[in-house]
Amino acid sequence: MSDSLVYLNGALTPISEAKIPVLDRGFIFGDGIYEVIPVYARKMFRSDQHLARLFRSLAAIGITNPHNKEEWLTLIDQVMSAHEADDQMVYIQVTRGVAKRAHAFPQEATPTVFIMTNPIVLPTAKAREQGVACVSMEDKRWLRCEIKSISLLGNVLAAQNAAENGVTETIQFRDDYLTEASSSNVWIVKNGILMGPPTDNLILEGIRYGLIQELCAAHKIPFEARRITRQEVFSADEVMLSSATKEVLAVVQIDDQTIGKGVPGPIYQQLFKAYQEAKAV
Ligand SMILES: Cc1ncc(COP(=O)(O)O)c(C=O)c1O
Repeated sequence: MSDSLVYLNGALTPISEAKIPVLDRGFIFGDGIYEVIPVYARKMFRSDQHLARLFRSLAAIGITNPHNKEEWLTLIDQVMSAHEADDQMVYIQVTRGVAKRAHAFPQEATPTVFIMTNPIVLPTAKAREQGVACVSMEDKRWLRCEIKSISLLGNVLAAQNAAENGVTETIQFRDDYLTEASSSNVWIVKNGILMGPPTDNLILEGIRYGLIQELCAAHKIPFEARRITRQEVFSADEVMLSSATKEVLAVVQIDDQTIGKGVPGPIYQQLFKAYQEAKAV
């Protein structure tokens, strides 16, 4: 691991020297939130939307935002500038801070703020050309999935399930309805219509969710947000994933079933191209 500079509570330090106290509520309770922002050619992609979500996450769990937008941009820029890679993935984490262990919020605590960056790892050329396989699983996570919480055990177990099956993602269903994958949103295409689950408490609204809506509008792809059954997913013409690091990625197999024609479909191709164009602006 390269000893890159990270930001922790007011100072830039080599990651090997960045330490937090054991009573940090992030460590003790998973009491915090995070954000992941892709960076292309040293410029954050959709930074306004990512910072707005960071602010929403903080508000959702009652942590006072420790910085205004300009301060956040300056801090992120310091970490980004210190890294040699042009294309990066910035990780921001804010926890409620350090306090004597008790579940309810402490009277006084200063949020812990951590920012690091790494080179972005995008899907391989093979994954782009051939699409990827996924497995399915019952969604057993809590009911506040709209919060980008660092309490990620449910997502960790879903990701491990994918890893043990040698596939890219685990697509989750709650009571037979599609929710999302362990760290991506999931989309289906049927008869030329792109569909995604509604943005309620059962999924994290990815920054790509709004972007995909915009790209659909710009390219005249009909878009529908609605509940999607398991059967609709398995019989879709196309299925795709979206996330900061996957961008959009075609799914050609779920469990032992082939999706559509078993190759990345035309709507995926169109969205992928549109996504690359949006990045280049
Ligand atoms: C559970 C979950 N859903 C969806 C997403 C996609 O969000 P975004 O497009 O902002 O990367 C992520 C991203 O990590 C995620 O963890």
